[in-house]
Amino acid sequence: MSINVFVEDPRLVSVDSHNSPTNTAPSNAFDYSCAAESPLYQQLGLSCLDNDEVLALMELSPVERKHQGVFFTPAELSRLAVEKFSYSLGDGAILDPACGSGNLLVALAETFEISPSLEVTLSEWNSRLYGVDINESFVKIARKKLVKLALSKGAVPSGEKTPGEILSILSNVKVGDFLKEYKSYCGKIGGVIMNPPFCHIDASGEIAWTSGRFNAASLFVVYAAEILPASGRFLGILPDVLRSGTRYAQWRSRLLKTADCTMETFGSFEPGVQVDVFILQGKIKYAQEEVIVEQVAAKSSPITLLMEKFDVSVGPVVPHRDKVIGTEAPFAHAKILPAWETVDLLPERICHAGRKAQPPFVAIRRTSSPKDKYRIVGTVVNCSELVAVENHIIILAPKDRSLLSCQRILDFFRTEHVNNYINEKIRCRHLTVGVVKGIPIGGAADGN
Ligand SMILES: C[S@@+](CC[C@H](N)C(=O)[O-])C[C@H]1O[C@@H](n2cnc3c(N)ncnc32)[C@H](O)[C@@H]1O
Repeated sequence: MSINVFVEDPRLVSVDSHNSPTNTAPSNAFDYSCAAESPLYQQLGLSCLDNDEVLALMELSPVERKHQGVFFTPAELSRLAVEKFSYSLGDGAILDPACGSGNLLVALAETFEISPSLEVTLSEWNSRLYGVDINESFVKIARKKLVKLALSKGAVPSGEKTPGEILSILSNVKVGDFLKEYKSYCGKIGGVIMNPPFCHIDASGEIAWTSGRFNAASLFVVYAAEILPASGRFLGILPDVLRSGTRYAQWRSRLLKTADCTMETFGSFEPGVQVDVFILQGKIKYAQEEVIVEQVAAKSSPITLLMEKFDVSVGPVVPHRDKVIGTEAPFAHAKILPAWETVDLLPERICHAGRKAQPPFVAIRRTSSPKDKYRIVGTVVNCSELVAVENHIIILAPKDRSLLSCQRILDFFRTEHVNNYINEKIRCRHLTVGVVKGIPIGGAADGN
């Protein structure tokens, strides 16, 4: 797709006051004095990162800065964004798709633990932080800021690696054009945090929600939502026009179909900047992959997909989070469901206010290791009451409501055909509703 003709990022009105290192570098929360004695600190020039940032900005002409929307997030706003994002390890890796000199990544890493070794710390951080920016100088500074932070937190270099080798441990913070490469992040990340460029770009025919010139930030959000898995979260510091402008009504309605969102007004990007921003937070309802599967099925493909014979959904019960209220019901969770069997009784019960599943149904879950014989295991649940189902379980409710359909599909799941299919699909991803819906089943579930 072609997207071109950049128009200025409105934050340029304050170009003189904005982006001075004093108000952008989140540098004062840590004590760098001990770290500064490390030879690596000197070799990487970590004491002059603020100057490097100014020089890197000066390498761009004012026109280039406008067109690339280069406005780094002030330290306070970066920390606020990270606080709101409330990252936890289970969220998977987080991407900043326009990372600039790394302010948001650094604010995120400030919340991370370290290992005693600098190399181990950086390689752990590298598995949790992805950043991409079109500007090579910014990316170098972003990597250096992360090294500086790790040193200041007390991580110690082994002395066996050159400064260049240390920086290259952070290989997931790299140069690239997110708008062209976004699909390459599919399956690798679980969340996105961003302050994308606010410049205007020309829509190509492939963009359905607008035409003509539009704010690039809206496209960053759409692409971020496209690459996130179901339940993946994103946070964006965005121009207020996306929240309030009629021009972006279609963009908002498209987004709300894909994700549960909150939009919080923030005011000006920073004091003296006449651009109001808001903070968008979202959680993906279903992955784009599922939409694609549904589109394939809608084209009446000759292959029967599982979704044509079963309603597929995720169990709603999150035991340690949900309140103990509502009616008591048998509780189906991964630990008590016997693999490949049919059960009429479940030994545990739970009070839960959420949706219950009507038996008979098949409860499937992913096995823990790619080495397991079967990548998914299932159980047919045939209790006489409605059942509360844990959120690690995917429920397959037969459209014909027959026990036989459940048992046939369970047998089918043990075939090499399904095992290979699932293995291929979930190599590095969660088992999603979309993957299950798309399993080609032929006549495997016909209960009649
Ligand atoms: C508003 S700045 C934000 C930088 C950083 N995320 C922060 O919060 O400080 C936007 C960044 O987007 C980068 N950028 C512009 N177009 C891009 C693209 N197509 N892909 C990746 N980065 C891009 C610019 O170089 C700039 O560093």
